[in-house]
Amino acid sequence: MSDEMGLFEAMYNCRAMRRLDTREVPEEDLVKLVDAANQAPSGSNMQGARWLIVRDPEQRQRLADLNRRGVEAYIGPQTGRPDALPHQSADKRARMLKSVVWQMEHMHELPALIIACMEFGQPVDAATMARGGGSIWPGIQNLLLAARALGLGATPTTLALGDREAVAGVLNLPDTMGAFCLIPVGYPLGRFGPVTRRPIDEVMRFDRWS
Ligand SMILES: Cc1cc2nc3c(=O)[nH]c(=O)nc-3n(C[C@H](O)[C@H](O)[C@H](O)COP(=O)(O)O)c2cc1C
Repeated sequence: MSDEMGLFEAMYNCRAMRRLDTREVPEEDLVKLVDAANQAPSGSNMQGARWLIVRDPEQRQRLADLNRRGVEAYIGPQTGRPDALPHQSADKRARMLKSVVWQMEHMHELPALIIACMEFGQPVDAATMARGGGSIWPGIQNLLLAARALGLGATPTTLALGDREAVAGVLNLPDTMGAFCLIPVGYPLGRFGPVTRRPIDEVMRFDRWS
């Protein structure tokens, strides 16, 4: 597998890949993903990001159970979740939800669940979590791009992580660490394709907004 894909090609084709094969991913590729993530910047260069690669079947099942709780709340009635968005038709959105449900049903079988965490050096609370995001998401995006370049499917997910105490219990996190994102990684069952985003003239201005 080549990891020589151009950076821009990877960025424009880095779709959330939820349907993944159960085939194992070589450990060296998983480490390569985390190594790429670890190159990302962090506020004040604190480098608090920590990465857990979960492969143990029982641990995967526990995380899958937490994800199921989160997904069921997300897709349940009266959650305020819009059926369509200005930039995403009801049909496309329904397909996305189907893949979220597929992922929920199969998460325990997926070869690796990578958890992006942050070590804060002090007990974690809602405020530390709120300010930690800026220093973990650049690494998560690096990881997603590296996965794309290696031909691996991945999706950034958060629905499993809503219950902070339950997550810390499953992962044996010290009280100074918080989990921000769970990224299932594996070989895609579907085909890679380009992302669909709002056109540039909707999201960019020069000098002033209006
Ligand atoms: C902060 C954040 C949280 C997300 N949480 C979830 C999640 O819990 N489950 C999931 O299946 N996808 C999740 N996603 C993936 C988004 O649904 C996906 O990136 C978005 O629909 C765009 O998909 P595309 O890149 O395939 O166009 C999350 C993405 C981000 C950035």
